[in-house]
Amino acid sequence: MCGIVGYIGNEQAAPILLDGLKKLEYRGYDSAGIALLNASGDIDIVKAKGRLSVLCEMTDDGKTMNGTCGIGHTRWATHGEPSENNAHPHCNDEKTIAAVHNGIIENYAELKEKLIKRGYKFYSQTDTEVATKLVDYYYKKYGDPLRAISEFALRVRGSYALAVVNKDFPDTVFAIRKDSPMIIGVTGGAAILASDVPAILNYTKNVYYVDNLQIARLEKGAVTFYNLDREEVQKELVAITWNAEAAEKGGYEHFMLKEIHEQPKVVKDTLNYLCRDGRLDFSEVGLTDKDFKRINGIVIVGCGSAYHVGVVMQYVIEDLARVPVRVELASEFRYRNPVLNGELVVAISQSGETADTLAAIRAAKESGLKTLAIVNVVGSSIAREADFVLYTKAGPEISVATTKAYSAQLVAGYAFAVKLAKIRGKIDNNYYDKLVTELIALSEKLDCLMERKEEIQKFAAKTMDKQDVFFIGRGADYAVSVEGSLKLKEISYIHSEAYAAGELKHGTISLIEDGTLVFGVLTQKNLVEKTLSNLIETASRGALIAVIASDGVKLPVKGIDNVFRIPDVDEHFTPSLAVIPLQFFAYYLSVLRGNDVDKPRNLAKSVTVE
Ligand code: G6P
Repeated sequence: MCGIVGYIGNEQAAPILLDGLKKLEYRGYDSAGIALLNASGDIDIVKAKGRLSVLCEMTDDGKTMNGTCGIGHTRWATHGEPSENNAHPHCNDEKTIAAVHNGIIENYAELKEKLIKRGYKFYSQTDTEVATKLVDYYYKKYGDPLRAISEFALRVRGSYALAVVNKDFPDTVFAIRKDSPMIIGVTGGAAILASDVPAILNYTKNVYYVDNLQIARLEKGAVTFYNLDREEVQKELVAITWNAEAAEKGGYEHFMLKEIHEQPKVVKDTLNYLCRDGRLDFSEVGLTDKDFKRINGIVIVGCGSAYHVGVVMQYVIEDLARVPVRVELASEFRYRNPVLNGELVVAISQSGETADTLAAIRAAKESGLKTLAIVNVVGSSIAREADFVLYTKAGPEISVATTKAYSAQLVAGYAFAVKLAKIRGKIDNNYYDKLVTELIALSEKLDCLMERKEEIQKFAAKTMDKQDVFFIGRGADYAVSVEGSLKLKEISYIHSEAYAAGELKHGTISLIEDGTLVFGVLTQKNLVEKTLSNLIETASRGALIAVIASDGVKLPVKGIDNVFRIPDVDEHFTPSLAVIPLQFFAYYLSVLRGNDVDKPRNLAKSVTVE
C-alpha cells in the first residue's frame, strides 16, 4: 500500500508532488512527507502525521518549499505506528540521500543489523529507513547511484517501489520496483513518477510501466531505464485512456457516491468491450472458442469484494455452463498446496496489484495452468503476468470501498459464463440471445435504481444506531449478501455478518435480539419462500426485517415492513441490481455516523502487502 511520487522538471516540485499524493491518498493516509533538492543543493524534508491535508497546510500547498526535483509519500503503516518519525521520506545522517518506498522489505531486520555493525544509526521502526541506508551504504562504497540501487535490489527480499534523490545528482530522481506498482510519464521538460495513473493524469497520458527489477533514471524531460547490470533497456510508452476528470469528485460529496452513480455506465462500457453486434466476443481478451472449449474446470481467486464476485461467478458458471468452479481466497490458495488438474485459474482484481492475488496467479502458472485476469488497471502486475486479460472498464476507482469495479467485474463474469455455456452447447440460441439482451439491459435498470436511493437514505436514518446487522440469502442472493455485509463493515464500522439463510439455525440465530436488523435478499424465485421463512423466524425473536426483492417476487402482506424493490432480470444477474441498495445503505450509514466514507479507518485500497 502507500503511494509514492517523484518529479524533476522546471516547475516548483512540491505543489506537483502534493497534487499527485492527493490522488494516491486512497493507498494510505496515516502520514505523509516530501523531500526536495533545494536551490542550494541541499535536501529539505517535511513530514507530518495524519492526512495529507496536514502536510499541505504546513507547506501552504507546497508553496513554501523551493526546488524542482523531489519525491513524496503517503503512508499506510506496516512497520511502526503512524508517526512523524516513521513517515517517509527517510534519509541518511548527512541528509545527502533520501528515499520513499511502497512495499515490504522482508529481510529488513537482518539488513539493519549488518548496517548497525557498519556504524549506521536508526531513528524509526520502518523497513524503509533500512532500504535508504542500504542504498547510501552502496553509494558510498561504489560512488555510482545506479550501482547502489542494483546492489540494494540484489540484497533485499520483498516488494518495493523505491524512489531516491541524491544531493550529488540535483536534477535526477532514481527509482526501482519489484512487485509494487510504478509508472513514469515524461512531458515537455519534466519527468514524473507515481504508484498509479490518477497521480499523473494532469501532466501526461503517456506512461512507461516499470517492470520488475528495472531501474529508472528520471531527468528533465527524459527517462532512461536499466537492468540490474546497469545496461540500458528500451521501453515502450503506453497511452492511458482514462481522463483526469474521471479521478475527480465531479460535484458529488464523496467519491463513493459518484462511483455508485457511475455503475450504469461502467457496466455498459464493459459489455460494449465484450459484445460485437449483439454477440459475446472475447477476441480482445485473447480467448478463442478453442480456448473456451478446453476449459474443463475453473478456479477463481481474489480478495475482498473481488472474491465476492467469484462467489457469484461460481453459481452462474456452474448453473449455465455446467463446468466445475471453485472459488478461493487468494491468500489461502497461494499457501495451501491445492490439488489442481488443468483448470483455468481466473484472478479477479480491481487494482491488479493485490499481493495475494498476484502470488496466486504465479502459483497457478508454476503448476502449468493457464490464467485469466479480470482486472481494471491497464498494465498492472496481474494483467501483465496472466495469459489472458479481460479489462473491466470501470475507470479510476478512488473510494477505498469498491462499488463500480465490483459491478464491472460482475458483468464481465456473467459474459464469461454465458459465452462458455454457449460454446459448450449448454444453452440454445434462444436462451443465449435472451441472456445477452438481459445483460445489455442491465445498465438501464441500474439507472432506475439510482433514483430509488432516497428510500434507502430514510431507512438508514432510522437504523443508524444499530450495533449488529445480518444479511441472509440463498444461492446468488447469498453471494450478494456477503458483499453487502462487507460494504457495511468497511465504511460504517457496524458489526455485520452475512449468512447463507439455511445456516442461520446452526448457531447464528442465537445472536438475534430485540431490534437486531436482518436484511433478506429475495431474488431467486424458487428460494424465496425458504429465505422468507428464515426471516420470519428471526422476526419472531425480535429482529427488525428488511428485504431487497425483485419486482416480481410476491411477499406476504404482513410481517415484512421494509421492502426495497429492484427491477426483474434473469435470475443469474440479480446480484448486479441487489447490490445497489446495499451499497447505498452502507454509504448513508457511514455519512450519518460522521465517518470518512472514502478513506475508512485502517484500510487501504490497494493491498500490495500480505
Ligand atoms: C482492498 C479493498 C477492497 C478490494 C480488495 C481487493 O481490501 O478495500 O475493496 O476488494 O482490496 O482488491 P483488488 O484491487 O485486488 O480488487
